[in-house]
Amino acid sequence: MRAGPMSDLHLLPQDSFAPVCAGVVGAGYVGLTTGACLAHLGHHVVCADIDEERVERLRRGEIPIVEEGLAEVVAEGLSSGRLTFEVGAAAAAADADVVFLCVPTPQGADGGADLRYIETAAAQIAPVLKAGALVVNKSTVPVGSTRAVEDVLERPDVAVVSNPEFLREGTAVYDFLNPDRVVIGADDRSAGERLGDMYAGLNAPVIITDPASAETIKYAANGFLAMKISFVNAIAAMCEAVGANVDDVVEGIGADQRIGKAFLKPGPGWGGSCFPKDSRALVKIAADYGYDFTMMKGVIDVNDEQKRRMVAKVRRAVGLAPGRGLKGTVVGVLGLAFKAGTDDLRDSPSLTMVSSLIAGGARVRAFDPTVDVAPEGAKATVLAGIELVGSVREAATGAKVLVIATEWPEFAKIDLAELATLMQTDAVVVDTRNLLDAAAVRAAGLRYDGVGRR
Ligand code: UDX
Repeated sequence: MRAGPMSDLHLLPQDSFAPVCAGVVGAGYVGLTTGACLAHLGHHVVCADIDEERVERLRRGEIPIVEEGLAEVVAEGLSSGRLTFEVGAAAAAADADVVFLCVPTPQGADGGADLRYIETAAAQIAPVLKAGALVVNKSTVPVGSTRAVEDVLERPDVAVVSNPEFLREGTAVYDFLNPDRVVIGADDRSAGERLGDMYAGLNAPVIITDPASAETIKYAANGFLAMKISFVNAIAAMCEAVGANVDDVVEGIGADQRIGKAFLKPGPGWGGSCFPKDSRALVKIAADYGYDFTMMKGVIDVNDEQKRRMVAKVRRAVGLAPGRGLKGTVVGVLGLAFKAGTDDLRDSPSLTMVSSLIAGGARVRAFDPTVDVAPEGAKATVLAGIELVGSVREAATGAKVLVIATEWPEFAKIDLAELATLMQTDAVVVDTRNLLDAAAVRAAGLRYDGVGRR
């Protein structure tokens, strides 16, 4: 994976640069990153959200999400005056030459993307858009949605283009400013080039294609990455069966330049706000157009199975016969976020594992450095039954099993000797991220079970 050092932020060469008045609809992780980074590049940006409290906080420079470097670029935009925050989509669009739609497209009941927010945003900006404005769809949307936005806008003078984002949570600012490529889908090439000019100087290839291809690129990229992880998790399962070591296998296959090492880290299964919904949407879109995408279904099945395999490891660790419950077993869980570097709990494999452990009767004590208060709303439902604690030490105390569920770097530095004294006798570390050195854990007097490790 690419690193994300913030020192690599760079500004465009100003002589070749034409600042644009941009509006961004949605101040979530995509919209806020897009708005703040566009301002960093020198554009004038109005970033809008429907949540008044969020807008108020952003005006004070308070960042609602954990995202490295975001506070800095927002502060820079606020102090330069190039970044302002407003309530409501219309406020972002009124004076903008280019409007970016960055609203969520959650998974709908049928597995496809729910376009409600994007259609509402389009309807709200339609009457206020300047003549000849450009509308940019950054939300991940089913193929054909660029046209759907055009239909809602009913503004023949306004071009709509697709510009999918490939930002990873945790390194979104770095990724925005150092993209591998910029993808633009436009029926009208000059509209695509107009958007491409906004990114001039980012030192990335700009791929201009038609809207359907741009929309497909986004799904294909996420589908392929999810496939790599499911593949390596399946290989890890095989390694466990045949007595091989997945770390060595990945090194061996990754040395082949056609394969590469990136995105081949075994774990508890992929999660987050993108892969689960996009992989299902890909299957759904394919089915809608008459293609049965069995390969992608397999990728999803392997991922579901992977989470169950991790729970089975806990059961095995305490010597449970099939069908027996975990009642009375104290399980410490390190990490709730779907990966390190974020506080995002959406579709987190950790939560799936925890729910299953609790359903099986276990008493779960969990610690995550970014989840320190009793969560509200949807999170509370998922987290019901978890005892949230404030440190690794508390999570481990009296536990029979310690599950490492998120790869927070601080978990790699656990004092193993102390851990052994805190946990029950004959305790087990189930390391779903292969974060710890198995030999060192065993040397400390604990049992160890990783993923695909001998
Ligand atoms: C992803 C894509 O990387 C990004 O391009 C897209 O725009 C949004 O979706 P993100 O959801 O932030 O980004 O997470 P990412 O870092 O890609 O990880 C996704 C999941 O895969 C996580 O659950 C992570 O733990 C898991 N993963 C990743 C592995 O298990 N092994 C790996 O080798 C890499």
